[in-house]
Amino acid sequence: MRKPVSLLSLYHKESSMGTEFRRLYANIKSKNRDQNLQSLLVTSATVGEGKSLTSSLLAITIAELTKLKVALVDFDMRRPRIAQYFDLENENGVADVLTGKLSLKAVSRKTTVPNLTVVPAGRLDVLPTDVLEHERVSNFFQELKFYFDQVIVDSPPVIPVSDPMLISEHVDGVIMVVRGGSTQREVVSRASNLLINAKINVIGVVLNDYEEVLPYYYKERYYGYQYYHKDLKENKSSS
Ligand SMILES: Nc1ncnc2c1ncn2[C@@H]1O[C@H](COP(=O)(O)OP(=O)(O)O)[C@@H](O)[C@H]1O
Ligand SMILES: [Mg+2]
Repeated sequence: MRKPVSLLSLYHKESSMGTEFRRLYANIKSKNRDQNLQSLLVTSATVGEGKSLTSSLLAITIAELTKLKVALVDFDMRRPRIAQYFDLENENGVADVLTGKLSLKAVSRKTTVPNLTVVPAGRLDVLPTDVLEHERVSNFFQELKFYFDQVIVDSPPVIPVSDPMLISEHVDGVIMVVRGGSTQREVVSRASNLLINAKINVIGVVLNDYEEVLPYYYKERYYGYQYYHKDLKENKSSS
């Protein structure tokens, strides 16, 4: 497999991608003024919808824009991507903290983006269910929220596994990413119903206008992000 291009080598503040994400963040903030959203989880119905990319770009944007201390945490221990996007090793991470092997500090990695820390997923060959046991995850989030002003969490998709449901109860809000054009409506509604029925605070949906044109990978024009608030009225990020 071709080595993936690092996200940081392609991201520029001045690009339209940077602009899209600043708008997305402004929309998230303005539509949810009444809520403290110190921790946000990014999920989707299925794999490949752009969760890891969206959570990474959102974290970079917030760190650059607000100068707050931001942690980007890879909770997708099944298909970890964040370390790779930031040119870091995925050797140690969330998995090691949850299994009690290492501390949060030991697995936190500074990035070249000022104020942005990455906590990779780490490795777990089998995901024992007790790793996501309530108290462990709760303690982990308490620690994250103590050390960081903003915590952005990447996660596995909702439909194949229950992990995001377990993690969601520990965060202030959940954002669902939907890949435009390809994800079936029923699949998206099944996933959002799962979250809503579990009384999880889904604050909005991000439409990732992803077109699979590999040679133009990461080309700016393929980042069209729209944000839909939970009342489902369209709030175009470009508006
Ligand atoms: N808007 C986009 N433009 C170009 N490539 C994208 C876009 N969204 C996602 N991709 C690519 O699609 C693949 C899957 O995205 P990823 O964020 O890893 O999805 P997920 O985390 O939901 O499985 C990655 O290779 C990613 O770089
Ligand atoms: Mg991912």
